[in-house]
Amino acid sequence: MEPINIENIKVAERKYLENKKYRILKILISTTTILGFILLMFFLRKSNFNSYQNGLIGDIKIKDDKILGHFPYRETSFENLVEITPDILVHKKMYKSLLKMRDDAKKEGVYLVFLSGFRSIELQKEIFYSLKSIRSQVAMERARVSAPPGYSEHSTGFAIDIGDALNRETDFEVEFETTSAYKWLERNAAKYHFKLSFDRKQNSVDYEPWHWRYEGNIEALKIFEASNREKLKY
Ligand code: DAL
Ligand code: ZN
Repeated sequence: MEPINIENIKVAERKYLENKKYRILKILISTTTILGFILLMFFLRKSNFNSYQNGLIGDIKIKDDKILGHFPYRETSFENLVEITPDILVHKKMYKSLLKMRDDAKKEGVYLVFLSGFRSIELQKEIFYSLKSIRSQVAMERARVSAPPGYSEHSTGFAIDIGDALNRETDFEVEFETTSAYKWLERNAAKYHFKLSFDRKQNSVDYEPWHWRYEGNIEALKIFEASNREKLKY
């Protein structure tokens, strides 16, 4: 029988314990890392949701200075405007696209008519306050159909109210949505970069099937950015 080397046994035992400790440590580190990651994801999602509620998406601030459901808009300068039909001015950057849309619709037997384009803040003031008092409506009721001065997309020059030339009784009425003009717009307006501003999904302003805005350039997209961000919510 070989003589037992006591020293060797001690070293072997120490090594075994060290390996076991190392394995436990490894398990602890990976569990903590996985748990930490899950918790981090959870808090990030939660804080994104909370900050979204507070007018932020992540750390991007939504410019929410809304009044009675309307975002603020600056009046475009006169040099940016061109006459599209007698007495109706629109932004020169949407002019071509709007005319092309009307002409293409006409080729398919659909006759679009422009009802209202650019409106100065001064004109919007008259519309908002005079009609409001004539109809004996308080501001909140009136704002469902007309934006307060300084808050109308029409002041940017990038908004247009459209009717059906063959169904003028539907001008500015919800019934406009039954006309071939509206149905054509619904199918085709996006090709020309027009979008319905006050659809049925939002509920701050009454549904306006006749009111379209142009988003065919960066300037217009920046102007309508806050509104588009809000639309992401629904
Ligand atoms: N009718 C829309 C809301 C406006 O006045 O701008
Ligand atoms: Zn309008």
